Amino acid sequence: MNPAKLVVGNWKMNGSAALLRAFAAAARDWPACETVVCVPHPLLPLAHAALAATPLRCGAQDCSGEDGGAYTGEVSARMIGELGGRYVIVGHAERRGGHAETDGQIVAKAQRALAAGVTPIVCIGEKAEERDGEQTALVLRRQLLQLVRVLGRDIASIVVSYEPVWAIGSGDAATPGLIDHALGVVAGILAFHAGPCARSVRLLYGGSVDPRNAGAILSRDAVAGVLVGAAAVVPEDFREICKAAARCSVMPTRDAA
Ligand code: 13P
Repeated sequence: MNPAKLVVGNWKMNGSAALLRAFAAAARDWPACETVVCVPHPLLPLAHAALAATPLRCGAQDCSGEDGGAYTGEVSARMIGELGGRYVIVGHAERRGGHAETDGQIVAKAQRALAAGVTPIVCIGEKAEERDGEQTALVLRRQLLQLVRVLGRDIASIVVSYEPVWAIGSGDAATPGLIDHALGVVAGILAFHAGPCARSVRLLYGGSVDPRNAGAILSRDAVAGVLVGAAAVVPEDFREICKAAARCSVMPTRDAA
């Protein structure tokens, strides 16, 4: 069980050593939620060192589907783990779209991550035209099916982030009602194909999450956390989102009544 909400920052191709120092300073008194910052690969060792004494953890934004060898420019999940990365985002829309990554390649990346002891955050989500054509459930099913088949029981150790492509970077997040519905579809697909172990999969939402909408999104029971882009490189905004997550987290010591 993970009662604390998970807030993951995806820095994309942004950030610097100076920004990491700002986060390390802000993290001295951090809200009580699980927090991860996924930085560009070259910043990973710095992030690990800067955040080691804080509650924040670090991760990466992609890994190879191979373990090693002649793959110029690639970074393995094992390297990410050795450099202190605990999480790695795989299958982000900007990689599926901009780099033509297939579901098969994304599953291979998730497998490599799990084998390296790094938690994969697998991104799924429909494009605007797929939403408009009422294809959302079909798209989510297609994006999840190979993952479930190949990972088997290991699916329990992954995080899935529903990131509708139309919401990313648009300033217009999906409504909490729509997020509930989509995560319900995801949970249903996982339960049907993976059985009870699917219950441990944490389901996040990503796409234009900011300090104004974070509370409404994170307060939904279906939402185990958020994956944040633009607001994740603004320490005050990221902190506000984490505060909202802390308010929505059921801490183990709290009386259920
Ligand atoms: P924005 O929060 O900038 O919309 O980005 C979302 C995202 O892509 C997180 O992975």
